[in-house]
Amino acid sequence: MFSIDRKDFGPGFTFGVATAAYQIEGGQQDGRGPSIWDSFSATPGNVHNGDTGRNACNHYELWPQDLDLIRDGGFDAYRFSFAWPRLIPQGTGAVNQAGVDFYDRLIDGMLERGIKPYATLYHWDLPSALQDKGGWMNRDIAGWMGEYAALIANKFGDRLEATATINEPWCVAFLSHFLGVHAPGYRDLRAAARAMHHVLFAHGTAIDALRANGAKNLGIVLNLEKSEAASDSAADQAARDMGDAVFNRWYLGGVLKGQYPKEVTDWLAPYLPEGYERDMEVVSRPLDWLGINYYTRGIYRASGVPGMPAEQVKGPLEKTEMGWEIYPQGLTDILVRVSKEYTKIPLYVTENGMAEVEGDDDPRRVSYYDEHLKAVLNAREQGADVRGYFAWSLLDNYEWAEGYNKRFGIVHVDYETQQRTPKSSYRAFQGMLHNTR
Ligand code: NOJ
Repeated sequence: MFSIDRKDFGPGFTFGVATAAYQIEGGQQDGRGPSIWDSFSATPGNVHNGDTGRNACNHYELWPQDLDLIRDGGFDAYRFSFAWPRLIPQGTGAVNQAGVDFYDRLIDGMLERGIKPYATLYHWDLPSALQDKGGWMNRDIAGWMGEYAALIANKFGDRLEATATINEPWCVAFLSHFLGVHAPGYRDLRAAARAMHHVLFAHGTAIDALRANGAKNLGIVLNLEKSEAASDSAADQAARDMGDAVFNRWYLGGVLKGQYPKEVTDWLAPYLPEGYERDMEVVSRPLDWLGINYYTRGIYRASGVPGMPAEQVKGPLEKTEMGWEIYPQGLTDILVRVSKEYTKIPLYVTENGMAEVEGDDDPRRVSYYDEHLKAVLNAREQGADVRGYFAWSLLDNYEWAEGYNKRFGIVHVDYETQQRTPKSSYRAFQGMLHNTR
């Protein structure tokens, strides 16, 4: 049970659950093209246990029961992502009708059940054919993304409640091209710098294409952390500022103010695409809402590594199975900061949740959600215009480089049988939301 009630959030606040295509769909049949996660996960050493998203939760076939779970939990909305390679297998050009039919069924299935569709265009499964042309390192990706966005607007735009372009651009750019943890697994500063700009240029181009084709209520989803310094030393404080600039301010500043933090453009000057300044108007196209994914805080200290301005250290607080500190105050702080320093457009917590050991009884997750929902209420009291909250995730699913080993679901999945079993955390949401839709 949660200690708070739906009424505490007032009328009109949206409660939802979130997932992403590659993490749950499976369904390689019916013409879906290969994505960078298919080949990345097939490469030994990249993913825990060699797990791939080949079958995942078989949501491609089991989606009716998954939508029933969302409805029966009392949720208002479902945040899902389109798989680009299912719709346009080669990334550009020919459209796969079976893919269009799948998302037609899924979206109509939501509407029939009274669930509002919140869509994401890009949640990391880039068509491999586009990676062959340089993927996020190639400026042309803006045009490819624009073509894809226009397709989404034309086929589905009339039925979508809200649409986000990119999920977690820091992960798309830095985690995937500099830290090498996600596909395509590069460890190259030039690749990362180019991806950092192109991902936001593609975002702005997609916004234009969505709008030109009639889609409404458009945004982007950023992963933000509360940034703290490991100590009071000037060096650690400076490291905190740099970490904050690379992780948070690059994306907030770019998208909402058309400006990247100077310390980062100085650091990456030799690698950024020439003339990137001319794109900043597109990067910062006006948005209707901003999504924030929040999991933990980041603690920084001065890096001992030459060329690296900052490094993260582990903190002392209780941790989730991911090893991430549980820090609800950080969610309040982030929401208040964004609304004071960056924008007055409506904010949504588009992801929040924790990995926990396997099982249906997850009291620690119940209190994690309870504490973070209270943190949202606190932010609202301090003036942040937060309009909705999405739990990550509906189902245990494919946790990227961690494979199936880390479980974020409020519903347990037995991957042998594909049996879904609601956990205590699902029941807690259901208790709060029951009969109020
Ligand atoms: C953020 C990502 O959007 C999602 O795909 C991932 O599973 C969760 N964080 C948990 O790590």
